[in-house]
Amino acid sequence: MQIIVTGSAGKLGRAALPVLKAAGHRLTGLDLRAGTAGGVRTLACDCTDFGEVLGAFSGGDTMGGVPDAILHLAGIPMPGLATDQKTFATNTISTYNVFSAAARLGIKRVVWASSETILGLPFSTPPDFAPLTEEHPDRPEWSYGLSKKLGESMAAEFTRWNPALTIVSLRFSNVFEAADYAQRDAVERKPAIRKFNLWSYVDARDAAEACRLALEADLRGHQKMIIAAADSIVSHASAELMATHFPGVPVRGPLEGNASLLSSARAKQLIGYEPRHSWREAGDT
Ligand SMILES: NC(=O)c1ccc[n+]([C@@H]2O[C@H](COP(=O)([O-])OP(=O)(O)OC[C@H]3O[C@@H](n4cnc5c(N)ncnc54)[C@H](O)[C@@H]3O)[C@@H](O)[C@H]2O)c1
Repeated sequence: MQIIVTGSAGKLGRAALPVLKAAGHRLTGLDLRAGTAGGVRTLACDCTDFGEVLGAFSGGDTMGGVPDAILHLAGIPMPGLATDQKTFATNTISTYNVFSAAARLGIKRVVWASSETILGLPFSTPPDFAPLTEEHPDRPEWSYGLSKKLGESMAAEFTRWNPALTIVSLRFSNVFEAADYAQRDAVERKPAIRKFNLWSYVDARDAAEACRLALEADLRGHQKMIIAAADSIVSHASAELMATHFPGVPVRGPLEGNASLLSSARAKQLIGYEPRHSWREAGDT
């Protein structure tokens, strides 16, 4: 497929480009600054500008025609990097522009980065149950999470208006690339530090593979799915962490060892996602 990757210069973009390229896809990146990464050309495009997004998606002198699919990763990736309003506006408007331009141009597949935050991070209100699945009520507590919730609502409506369009919302847990694992020791000593996301994470290589699977899978309509590692970021037993930090929250089903408290079971069922990387082998990355 010919695929446009927005936010191609970012953490997830950098991980996704080689995986998509190795799978034989032809790629063009879009980001705030032009450049070339891993042999993939990135065009300068501000995704909050509808005209720029429509222009980029409709082709160009150097990039062929309308692409087959979009991987939309551009945005402000967490609360606290910009003002709440800027985070909300950047993420919500860019996601609207991507969905709307894709629908107008007849692009049939958009995969985009939603987020675990939609589930209720930082869990000042405890979750209703664990491990968390997509059945858990959406409970965004930050403007960032609200932007992702609205993105998913837009995905549901755009696919309803355009039955030929499939949108996949990947609810990524906190993405770890090699250097990020250095922060793990502190969490091991003091697990309360990462109570805010139920000690979940996802290796950037698994997140990138999820992008590929979601772009290639046979799916219809709007599909949302959690993308997390198989284990939690600490060696402490997950059942123990729940009993200590969230007493009274029902634990559903078996919770072996330090199994993740964010379930990726739906992603396994729908796109064949199986996380392969863990902090346990982070030294090898
Ligand atoms: N990193 C995580 O832990 C995490 C977890 C869940 C979801 N996500 C989501 O994944 C996506 C990618 O995150 P990341 O970690 O790669 O972030 P990142 O900040 O490393 O990359 C985002 C990229 O988007 C670009 N960008 C920002 N605003 C833009 C705009 N208006 N137009 C075009 N490009 C723009 C930035 O220049 C950057 O290269 C984001 O939507 C983020 O919310 C990230």
